[in-house]
Amino acid sequence: MLYCRGLARRYLMPSEPRILVIGAIGQIGTVLTSALRAHYGAQAVLATDIKKPAEHEYPFEMLDILNVQRVREIVEDYKINQIYHLAAILSASGEWNPMKTWNVNLNGLLTVLELAKEREIKVFFPSTIAVFGPTTPRAHTPQHTALLPETVYGISKVSGELWCNYYHKRYHVDVRSLRYPGIISYQSMPGGGTTDYAVEIFHEALKTGKYECFLRSDTKLPMLYIDDAIRATLELMEAPAQQIHIRSSYNLAGMSFTPAELSQEIKKHIPDFEISYKPDFRQEIADSWTESIEDNYARSDWGWKPAFDLEKMTFEMLTQLGKVYSNSPK
Ligand code: NAD
Ligand code: SER
Repeated sequence: MLYCRGLARRYLMPSEPRILVIGAIGQIGTVLTSALRAHYGAQAVLATDIKKPAEHEYPFEMLDILNVQRVREIVEDYKINQIYHLAAILSASGEWNPMKTWNVNLNGLLTVLELAKEREIKVFFPSTIAVFGPTTPRAHTPQHTALLPETVYGISKVSGELWCNYYHKRYHVDVRSLRYPGIISYQSMPGGGTTDYAVEIFHEALKTGKYECFLRSDTKLPMLYIDDAIRATLELMEAPAQQIHIRSSYNLAGMSFTPAELSQEIKKHIPDFEISYKPDFRQEIADSWTESIEDNYARSDWGWKPAFDLEKMTFEMLTQLGKVYSNSPK
């Protein structure tokens, strides 16, 4: 389906960014697309996904990353010169269909990198803490470390990082990447990951006052508030190319906490909040990841610094979602 293609064509100037977001209707894409439109102008950013947007979103096109011919047509028609390639199947959902996950996550990226090589397109590729595995040091995980993940999602993202590095070294593709921690957002729901509890908990705290967590109380994981994630993405993409020394993917840190610690923080605002624990298959995935990240390369190369810690993120989530549920933090 086509939404306002003419508008996009008319307003995009050759010298300006002409941005394609693939997977724009997901947790991060929803917020990133708005931020890119606020930054570069609404008509400079074409949102695409296999899902339709909830509201009218312009410009928007349906696009399956596995339809290589259609991806090429869109890139050519809109004279795209930047791609934010977000489409993926995440860690928990990925385990239900490993071959499909590999196909979408890895072959989808290769389609983007080939087009980037041919047409000198700048690319953003989100990687993840899921690239780490049981042999990776769990605390203060360094940039250069063992990458032996045990999920198909993690395997596809490590491979993706290596292909990004290859396309940069071999073909000079300007591809940039971040290893996002679990992203916590109020604007959109997460889409099938292992860190999803850290968003669901806020909705349930405000709606019902209780939450049954699918991870153990002591499962510490790296997390990042959405505002920090979006700012990091824009800062990385706008940094001068000579400052970008890592072309696989940058470690990125915000905060680390356990479900018990998050629950305690929520209780400061909702004293009657109750949490219970019923770990499922996602516990094994979480146990294979690390608990805190060393992001010194991102800090020194392009000046990364997070603004949100556990306390500030919790207040912000309850305040923003309080408006939705007509409630507010005490
Ligand atoms: P999400 O699941 O919410 O969104 C992904 C989007 O991709 C969905 O809207 C989905 O419809 C779309 N999609 C799936 N298959 C597609 C296909 N074949 N063609 C086109 N679109 C397709 O995921 P998200 O949380 O927004 O994650 C975005 C990116 O960031 C992903 O690459 C993910 O691996 C990465 N990431 C996310 C997190 C997180 O905590 N959310 C953490 C680390 C990395
Ligand atoms: N939040 C993501 C997941 O849990 C990490 O990439 O899958």
